[in-house]
Amino acid sequence: MGMTDEVDTKSQPVQAEPKVKDKEVADMDCAEVPDEMESQKKRHLNVVFIGHVDAGKSTTGGQILFLSGQVDDRTIQKYEKEAKDKSRESWYMAYIMDTNEEERVKGKTVEVGRAQFETETTRFTILDAPGHKSYVPNMISGASQADIGVLVISARKGEFETGYERGGQTREHVQLAKTLGVSKLLVVVNKMDDHTVNWSKERYDEIESKMVPFLRSSGYNVKKDVQLLPISGLVGTNMKTRVDKNICPWWNGPCLFEALDSVEIPVRDPKGPYRMPVIDKFKDMGTVVMGKVESGSICEGDSLLVMPNKAPVKVLAVYCDEDKVRRAGPGENLRVRLSGIEEEDISSGFVLSSVVKPIPAVTEFTAQLQILELLENAIFTAGYKAVLHIHSVVEECEIVELLQQIDPKTKKPMKKKVLFVKNGAVVVCRIQVNSLICIEKFSDFPQLGRFTLRTEGKTIAVGKVTDLPSRSSA
Ligand code: GTP
Ligand code: MG
Repeated sequence: MGMTDEVDTKSQPVQAEPKVKDKEVADMDCAEVPDEMESQKKRHLNVVFIGHVDAGKSTTGGQILFLSGQVDDRTIQKYEKEAKDKSRESWYMAYIMDTNEEERVKGKTVEVGRAQFETETTRFTILDAPGHKSYVPNMISGASQADIGVLVISARKGEFETGYERGGQTREHVQLAKTLGVSKLLVVVNKMDDHTVNWSKERYDEIESKMVPFLRSSGYNVKKDVQLLPISGLVGTNMKTRVDKNICPWWNGPCLFEALDSVEIPVRDPKGPYRMPVIDKFKDMGTVVMGKVESGSICEGDSLLVMPNKAPVKVLAVYCDEDKVRRAGPGENLRVRLSGIEEEDISSGFVLSSVVKPIPAVTEFTAQLQILELLENAIFTAGYKAVLHIHSVVEECEIVELLQQIDPKTKKPMKKKVLFVKNGAVVVCRIQVNSLICIEKFSDFPQLGRFTLRTEGKTIAVGKVTDLPSRSSA
């Protein structure tokens, strides 16, 4: 793509959804509503792009949209000019996903970018997470909406190393993704075109040999749930079509689109009890809530409960992406217009839930925690306070009691009474929060029973809910 001086500044705007919260929901006549299955012939997957800062997540996401024909050359030229004006020449592809001025000036994603594209078999929603460590909470929110992850790793000299080091976000993101229910990972070794890499097989093998044991130790079954492949997000190589043998004679595997197309994920139960954690809400001819359906299906006219306040509501309309639909199943990102509740009475973290089988609401639960890295000099013991992130809930919590330490080797509880634990320990404990939160046991609904604990902006532990009080408020 050559640069031209003549750039039409009025040409098409950004292709990814604007990051200002879009308060407009298209209102369509009921007669125009497509039958629910119409727009859903293809399966739908949410893919989160994760990885260390500057690995090329936004660039790769932008390139995917370009290659799938959603961004025209003119827009690309406009971005090339804008990037050049900001002295960030190579950043133009990332501008497709990074739509805020702040993000473009700094060259860093802040808010999770969203965009859609399709392959032969699947409709994808891309969630482009920020890599910078200051924005880990945004990454957590992106990953908690995802089914699969694309872990982007930079092969450029020195960059792989920084991301992989202790404290690097390659590590932190993988551990968070696993905990947050991202069951499959495509690991893309990016920047293969860079002059320090030049599609070197040795470099690719080196990265693979370090990543595989690490992914395994983070709980991924590497054979079944992980696939690695080399790409160049900036140039668009090995993405929509396989890399040319002249460029990379040693790669015989798939390209990124093929890999995405063939990812298999477990089918979710459309007949399960309805569960949709609220990510955001706003007023628009009623109260509109946004979120991803984790279980069950929703129909126009349904009666549901907003938990934990047990408020009965009626479903006025359901929007899937931009389309109004009559019904939607698990895995879909929706906007749902409700009657019977004011917008002020809903917070993110609340759950739109089935009436017959509402989600439990608790102020205390038992969990198994894996301690990652405590702050310096901190000890993990009863009285420890942290911030709990579980689906869309963010709440202060306190560890009230350590119950048992688990031997990481045998996975069996250790006999000795446990008063405190250190980095790397696995421990069962009781956790309390001040106000009611809606959660599930991990064994019942993994997506609603996995969480992270953070202190002072750092993830210190990941965990699973193992038990709820027998008289939870549901
Ligand atoms: P954060 O959002 O800040 O976490 O970064 P990111 O992972 O989204 O990275 P981004 O896409 O903004 O790219 C960072 C820099 O790497 C930019 O200068 C890109 O041009 C460059 N880059 C990304 N992909 C490639 C690639 O395939 N090859 C080369 N040579 N450079 C790349
Ligand atoms: Mg980015």
